[in-house]
Amino acid sequence: MGFQGTHSNLTSDKSITPVLKWNKNLKPVEVTKMGKVMIDCDVGVDDALALILAFHSPELDVKAVTGVNGNVPLAQVFENIQKVLRLIQPKNKPLIAKGADRPLKGKTTYAYSVHGKDGLGGARIDHKEGERWQLFPGRADELITTRARQYPGEITLIATAPLTNLALALQRDREGMEKLKGVAIMGGAVRTKGNVTPHAEFNIFSDPLAAKIILESGLPITLVPLDVTHQVYLTPQMMEERVRPTNNPFSKFVIEATGYDSITHRFRNMELFYLHDPLAVGVAIDPTLVRKERLSIHVETPKGKYYGRTSETSEGPEIDVCLGVDSQRFLELFASRLSLFAPL
Ligand code: BDR
Ligand code: CA
Repeated sequence: MGFQGTHSNLTSDKSITPVLKWNKNLKPVEVTKMGKVMIDCDVGVDDALALILAFHSPELDVKAVTGVNGNVPLAQVFENIQKVLRLIQPKNKPLIAKGADRPLKGKTTYAYSVHGKDGLGGARIDHKEGERWQLFPGRADELITTRARQYPGEITLIATAPLTNLALALQRDREGMEKLKGVAIMGGAVRTKGNVTPHAEFNIFSDPLAAKIILESGLPITLVPLDVTHQVYLTPQMMEERVRPTNNPFSKFVIEATGYDSITHRFRNMELFYLHDPLAVGVAIDPTLVRKERLSIHVETPKGKYYGRTSETSEGPEIDVCLGVDSQRFLELFASRLSLFAPL
């Protein structure tokens, strides 16, 4: 089953044609022309899995990774970005930058129960002496608009965290943000219930004002809410049949970070592990994985029981909202990309 997206403003579209390259054994390999992306995240176990998926996907060229306060405090997020890059060892090192250490408004809520005290479920990643990342000499919001201006109309920004950095970037340099090709956002619960409160999803609840600014901005947004991310999850069966047999540093990381126990068949304190953030990357790789509708979304910012709710409204700019997903096809993509990607 494959769904046709409505507005293909994300990375893969019909203008991208496969090209032939040659690997070391002189065998031709078909690869797709790469779409440039940046990832704004709050690493977080599923953010880490999203980074692995992105860097292991030949369709994507990751130009920047930025961090924001979210699942864990900003300093820990930034350390985790570097740890995960150490695990991935990308051939082309992205620029990295630290962003906001608090929401535009309201209190911070951390998600230690899902991601562990260190945000990576205590997974070990070996330290490498002298390893250097390309640190951008400015804040995350500056890096986002600098890159957008450097590659006008080419970059898709994937946000897998509270939208504080994006809102700061828009407030400072709207013209720069308008140079993005598209914005894919994991967040919200539109026709389904929330995961922090009955009405709100974590990324939106963590900074509703920033979410309101972004979702009402008129930018070419694709929202990837719980309506679809709650349909893509790791199960004990998938761990035993697809992840464990892969037996490489990435599959070992998935097992450790999700706290999967092959005796109890549980993930730390859960029966399933949701791949929220990897799906936002999946949508940038292949927009036909999801079915979308054009909707205007209202974000509830006043304090109260609906704080952080994302609901359909008849006013305001429309965005693409993912409401259906081909779960099997996405899980297959995710599992297959855990294997090391053969260097060309
Ligand atoms: C979102 O909240 C975070 O805990 C996850 O990393 C994901 O971005 C899911 O609601
Ligand atoms: Ca996240």
